This record gives sequence, C-alpha cells and structure tokens, in this order.
Amino acid sequence: MSGHGEPIAMTATRSGPLTGRAEVPGDKSISHRALILGALAVGETKVTGLLEGQDVLDTASAMRAFGAEVIQHGPGSWSVHGVGVGGFSEPADVIDCGNSGTGVRLIMGCMATSPITATFTGDASLRKRPMGRVTDPLALFGARAWGRSGGRLPMTLVGAADPVPVRYTVPVPSAQVKSAVLLAGLNAPGQTVVIEREPTRDHSERMLRGFGAELAVEDGPEGRVIILTGQPELRPQTVAVPRDPSSAAFPVSAALIVEGSDILVPGVSQNPTRNGLYLTLVEMGADIAFQNPREEGGEPVADLRVRASSLKGIEVPEERAASMIDEYPVLSVVAAFAEGTTVMRGVRELRVKESDRIDAMARGLEACGVRVEEEEDVLIVHGMGPGGVPGGATCRTHLDHRIAMSFLVLGLASQRPVTVDDGSPIATSFPVFERLMAGLGADIARTAP
Ligand code: S3P
Repeated sequence: MSGHGEPIAMTATRSGPLTGRAEVPGDKSISHRALILGALAVGETKVTGLLEGQDVLDTASAMRAFGAEVIQHGPGSWSVHGVGVGGFSEPADVIDCGNSGTGVRLIMGCMATSPITATFTGDASLRKRPMGRVTDPLALFGARAWGRSGGRLPMTLVGAADPVPVRYTVPVPSAQVKSAVLLAGLNAPGQTVVIEREPTRDHSERMLRGFGAELAVEDGPEGRVIILTGQPELRPQTVAVPRDPSSAAFPVSAALIVEGSDILVPGVSQNPTRNGLYLTLVEMGADIAFQNPREEGGEPVADLRVRASSLKGIEVPEERAASMIDEYPVLSVVAAFAEGTTVMRGVRELRVKESDRIDAMARGLEACGVRVEEEEDVLIVHGMGPGGVPGGATCRTHLDHRIAMSFLVLGLASQRPVTVDDGSPIATSFPVFERLMAGLGADIARTAP
C-alpha cells in the first residue's frame, strides 16, 4: 500500500525500569518468503506466527494478484494455496509493495522467468530505492525492465518467455538480490548458480530446501556458491515463523540502557546470519542470557533475558555487517549510552535502506546532543555514558520504521524527551510496538503534531 496516511508524531520520555515479557512478532524476512514460496508450491501451505505488518500484508496481496489464494484464519495463522513454479498469472493491476524493498525485489525475482508482465510501485521511500541491483541479474534470465531514471519504481517487468539459467556473483552484500536470483532460477531449466562473497541471511536457501527444491551450498575461494536446480515441483509446507531478531533488538536495547530493567524476550531467532547485534552487545558488556536454546521452524531460537548494563564502546568487526545490517540504527543509540567510542565500518548498504540510515541516525543523534562522525561507509558514535545523553529534540524518520523505533528507544533513557516526526511506518514491521513497549513500562505516547 503506498503512503502511510497522516504522519503520527510520537514522544518517548525517560522511563523507570522496564520489566516483564516482550513477545515480539514473527520474522519479517521469513514471513515474506513463506507467502512467496507457498504461492509457488502446489497445494496448501500453512503458516503460523506470520508477521502481520504492512510490508508482509502487501506481499500477501501481491501473491493474490499473481493467482495464489492467501487466507488469514486467525492472528498469525494463514494458508496459501499455491499455483506451482511457473504457474503465476498476469496481475490485472499495478502491484503496490508499499514500503517494502524485500517484498518488491523478491516478487520481481519470482515472476521474472514467467511469460507475464507486471508493473510495480511503492511509497515515497520505496520509489527512491535502487532496483537495478535486481533487474540487472534478472535481465540475464531474459527478463526486461522499464523503470524511472536510476532504475527506480514505478517499474514494469516483462518476464522471460524462454528463460535461461544464470551464474551470478552478487556485487553487493544483499540477501534480497541473492533471493531474487534464486527465485527467478526456480522457473529456469538447468542449474542457476549464485555466488556471494560475504554470507548474507540464508532464509531463502533454508526454506527453498524445506519446500523440496534441490539446492546445494559450497564454500569456495570466491565465497558461498549456491547451486539451484530449476523447475522443481515445490511441496507445500507448514511454516512456524520464529520471532524476529531485528524487532527484538528494540526492547532488548531499551532494557540495556534504561536503569534497573530486567526483561525476557522469548523465542527469538538466533540464526548465525542474523545475530550480529547480539554478539556485538555482549562484547560491549551487555548482560544478556541466551536461555533454553532450541530449534523452531527450522531456525535456532533462544529466550533472551536482558538486564540493564554498563556498556563500553567497541570497534564492530566489519565482516559482521551483513548479519546485523538492520540493527545499526539501534546499535548507534545503545552506543550513545556506552562509555567510549563505537566504530561501525563497512556499513555503506545502510544508505540504500528505507532511508539513508547513516545520515538519518547521524542527524538525529546530533540533535539529541551526541557527537557523531560519518563517512560514506562508516558511522562513529562517541558514547556519553549512562544518563549522559541530553535528548530533547525532534528527530526526522524519513518514512523509516527502524529510525523511528531507534529514536523512541533513545528517548526512554535520555535526560529530556525525544519526539519522532512520524512513527506511522513502525506498522510496516512491528505493528504492536507501542503496546508491547507500554507493557514493559516504557513511556511512549502519540503527540499532537
Ligand atoms: C532482507 C534483506 C536485507 C534487510 C531487509 C530484509 C531480506 O536487505 O535489510 O530488511 O529479507 O532478504 P538487503 O538484502 O538489501 O541487505
């Protein structure tokens, strides 16, 4: 859905200890993929724990437009009656992916090797984001794309009538690009090979295998080599979506910086391609216990017990960037409350997310009295220690859910309240954020514009 209606200003005020249980919603990456792979399987896939954020709801609508039957049975409980690989029909109208880069890029991938045409658009944020990174490899299969200048939405993609398999090295660390190529490879004959120099989240690989595709992964000198055999018959699955580590990052970070806090965040995915933030926080001195480690829905999960901690700034290893790419905004908030400097390198990809996240965080942190240094590929935050962040500013969120939630977390521990100009995009990934945070004792309120 394009647009978010009226902006919703929100203010976070210094709060007492956060306590209790924070049940964060299902993983966004896995939720998109469950709907898409369900639509490509023959028969009925059942999904529990689906994230009902706007991004995923937009993907559900898109799958309906391509001919799948997608039904909600109850909270988080959905079924998808799929049409099979190569079975998509041509949508009758424009596909609106709202705020979701993952949605649009994965969906472009899975239609690119079918003889149909679709036009994609999104909200003001998504219409600024580069699509050439997916349409370039999709052209190798034989698909053709026409978009606005700079490869931007709205864009029309004409799927290849006679697709050929490809061998493609992903030039940027991006699971969206990798996944778009793999999904396109599903309907190409023969083997499609995707090489990534740096490993990124591996949900597509895990789930493609789970749905019955033949997929091999080899580690070689060029990086991770993923070999997919095309034109499988995907078998419907029952998918239990684990809780999202990227959403858990907000209550976890808040509990670390709000004095006296002690919370439990159950069932959070600890997939090693997603857990970089948690490794980093522990290195900074965070008191996080990873309790009851187990497997759920094919992913390693744990219950996180998090207590307020004295933290120190660190140099975040550059090679960890892909495993925590969505968590740098909130890490930069935590870093503001640490003693010493936190250096985040290799973070260039943050500039092409829902907003330019390096710029958005740097400007907002500065407005809140935190000293920040920024380069094209680097963000450095000079910590002010517990209780040391002045706050007292209004931060711009640029239609970016994670920027909004990060500054609201900051306001829970800063000296003066922090306002975000628009918290409405939070609904794209974490629709229960306000209720969940209030349940822990956080003072976050909607404010008159
Ligand atoms: C995602 C991949 C990441 C991430 C996004 C979700 C995915 O994007 O930022 O929130 O589900 O594949 P990139 O692949 O562009 O890094």
